[in-house]
Amino acid sequence: MSVRHFLKDSSISPAEQAEILRLAIEVKADRLRRQPLKGPRAVAVLTDKPTLRTQLSFCVGIAELGGYPMFVDGKLAGVGERESIADVARVLGRQVAAIVWRTHGQDRIEEMAAHAGVPVVNALTDDYHPCQVLADLLTVAEQRGGVDRLAGAKLAYFGDGANNMAQSYLLGGAMAGMEVVIATPPAYRPKAEILAEAEAIADRTGAKVSVTADVAAAASAADVVATDTWVSMGQEADAAARRSPFVPFRVDDALMALAAPEAVFIHCLPAYRGKEMTASVIDGPRSRVWDEAENRLHAQKALLIWLLAGSDG
Ligand code: NVA
Repeated sequence: MSVRHFLKDSSISPAEQAEILRLAIEVKADRLRRQPLKGPRAVAVLTDKPTLRTQLSFCVGIAELGGYPMFVDGKLAGVGERESIADVARVLGRQVAAIVWRTHGQDRIEEMAAHAGVPVVNALTDDYHPCQVLADLLTVAEQRGGVDRLAGAKLAYFGDGANNMAQSYLLGGAMAGMEVVIATPPAYRPKAEILAEAEAIADRTGAKVSVTADVAAAASAADVVATDTWVSMGQEADAAARRSPFVPFRVDDALMALAAPEAVFIHCLPAYRGKEMTASVIDGPRSRVWDEAENRLHAQKALLIWLLAGSDG
């Protein structure tokens, strides 16, 4: 039996990404129709970092799929400290249908997947936030009138180019055939190997990916404007050093005015008004952040349905 995991955006193919997004549109329209976890079968939701949307959307989604969400505070379990990741994976894998984990290093979630025997889902690591990008692609697809309309759309991201959101936009956006521009200071460029992977994907899908410090060029004619906190979870000790480099990359009304007339603004949240974007943008008419937050639920339900169907042997 083969088991499929979602450890980063490119754990699935571009065609599979489109299939999951279409399924998300279907489950959003009829929330309780698909119940592959009926029984209920349990899904473990573990987190080693703070959470609101991840806990909410996975636990609600698992319940709507007929299952039982077993939420575990990572500090309580001490995954990789109190006992090894491999041992935790083996114990969980005997009792749950899937494992959802928010953690630090990508190596940790890879080790979990190697030993679990059930699908493992990345609910944010230091390098990637692929569930959020699925939700964001769903939000953009709704806005543009279909999953097929993602290709060719320009998504411009402003801020920390080395964080999980920027790196997942590069991979996930390239898979969807989009033009992804990461606008960031030179010291905060994405990891070279992740940019290289996104470029290789873009060659196959017809997408374009680039990294620049030129804010105006990045914003020009963008269909989607995205940003994220300047201080990601785990970087709190660097907060002071991270205050000034990103100021020129703040999304404000002047930046939005450079984007396409129908451009929308997205943000994974939590958001800090007056820092990465002004209140006028996130609370303004172009903001889609509440749809985006809701779409975590629908995108992740579709992902779980798809992973479970592909892993049941
Ligand atoms: N880049 C942010 C995303 C929060 C959902 C962080 O890792 O804290």
